[in-house]
Amino acid sequence: MAEIIAGAAMSHVPAIGVAIDQGNTGDDYWKPLFDGFEKSRQWIADLKPDVVIVVYNDHATAFSLELIPTFALGCAAEYQIADEGWGARPVPAVKGQPELAWHIAQSVILDEFDLTIVNDMEVDHGLTVPLSLMFGQPDAWPCPVVPLCVNVVQYPPPTGNRCYNLGKAIRKAVQSLDKDLRVVIFGTGGMSHQLQAERAGLINAEFDNQFLDDLANNPKKAAAIPHVEYLREAGSEGIELVMWHVMRGALDDDAVEIHRHYHVPASNTAVGHIIFENKR
Ligand code: DHB
Ligand code: FE
Repeated sequence: MAEIIAGAAMSHVPAIGVAIDQGNTGDDYWKPLFDGFEKSRQWIADLKPDVVIVVYNDHATAFSLELIPTFALGCAAEYQIADEGWGARPVPAVKGQPELAWHIAQSVILDEFDLTIVNDMEVDHGLTVPLSLMFGQPDAWPCPVVPLCVNVVQYPPPTGNRCYNLGKAIRKAVQSLDKDLRVVIFGTGGMSHQLQAERAGLINAEFDNQFLDDLANNPKKAAAIPHVEYLREAGSEGIELVMWHVMRGALDDDAVEIHRHYHVPASNTAVGHIIFENKR
């Protein structure tokens, strides 16, 4: 039987990808950030998952205002790299896991979550930066990826509760696949940041740390945070945090926190990172 064994959340700031690609991770500015991921890289190298589900958001790379799926599940065999801003990162193409992805699509849609099925999609920093933070700079990514792309760019994004419950449906889907697969799920984006208008540069460490505590110890409370609170407390792009609830919902309620890292700033963003393992 397939099984979700662990989950991790991490920010996806594009400048982190540039620092990795240009060999600047040891600079004074970047070193404290990357030091917090050393344990994580060792952890996942030891764990050797068969597949990673990456919950992330697209930044007008694969989608635009012409087409705004709330939840888009990648069912393809491969995803090419692309990006806005700095352009496509020099990282390997991402291999998919169509069997697991189609199984999740079937199970979750029959559970009344109306996902969009995507067979051709480019992936941007929202997905590649988390892979780089966790897997470093390999010639090929060590395992296939099932991308789940969430709209957090154009109002209205899904609620935290909807994301949390989708995580539960994904967990049920994975557990019903008759194949030995050890699955890890990443929730990406956040933490507090605002890239636009009068409050550009906003960081709220108090909110972020409370969010990490609640995600760990009271995930239903964290999932109930309304959009307006993210906007007020974590800035307009802080809404990316709803994606972390998909990851948390896919884990056991009593999953154990095994690592945490919080660092300000990376570019305009507060970087948060947390890892959970299911007990069994
Ligand atoms: C930044 C952060 C993001 O999440 C993003 O998608 C783009 C830029 C930043 O902090 O610069
Ligand atoms: Fe982003």
